[in-house]
Amino acid sequence: MFRAGVVAMVGLAISAGAGVALEGGDPAKGEQVFKQCMTCHRIGPDAKNAVGPVLTGVIGRQPGTYPAFAYSELNKHAGEAGLVWSEDTIFEYLVDPSAFLKKFLTDKGKADQATGSTKMVFKLANEQQRKDVIAYLKTFSPDKK
Ligand code: HEC
Repeated sequence: MFRAGVVAMVGLAISAGAGVALEGGDPAKGEQVFKQCMTCHRIGPDAKNAVGPVLTGVIGRQPGTYPAFAYSELNKHAGEAGLVWSEDTIFEYLVDPSAFLKKFLTDKGKADQATGSTKMVFKLANEQQRKDVIAYLKTFSPDKK
């Protein structure tokens, strides 16, 4: 009982810490960063799929599930294996989408599915830009973390 309590508290501390890592994201600056994403993505109430899927409401989405978009197997498999798009997972993903999804599947014991690559060829290394663009995405997924 006591042990379970400690484990639960450690879990909370870790998730709170992960959230803190994303503090300092500025949605207005993120809107500028998002111009790079707009080569392929649209966001907003009337957004349509383009080269990439609609990103309205992406925080909280199971990867690979936006209607009528032809996702890669890698992207769909990660969602089927339990990945959920959150501020934290998108923050990691943007650095190297294919590597992130392969690692997720491998860690889940599904190395056989960790093949090929995602259709998202874009990478965003800059940490502040990732925080800002996620703060912007969040304004279109207001209830999600
Ligand atoms: C060169 C085109 C391109 C650019 C630029 C691009 N993306 Fe993507 N993105 C894609 C494609 C294509 C997919 C679908 C990936 C797949 O099916 O493997 C995708 C998928 C995603 C997903 C997963 C969505 C889902 O429903 O599973 C997220 C999140 C995402 N992109 C965020 C971003 C953000 C944020 C930016 C800008 C910082 C960005 N992308 C820039 C093409 C792009």
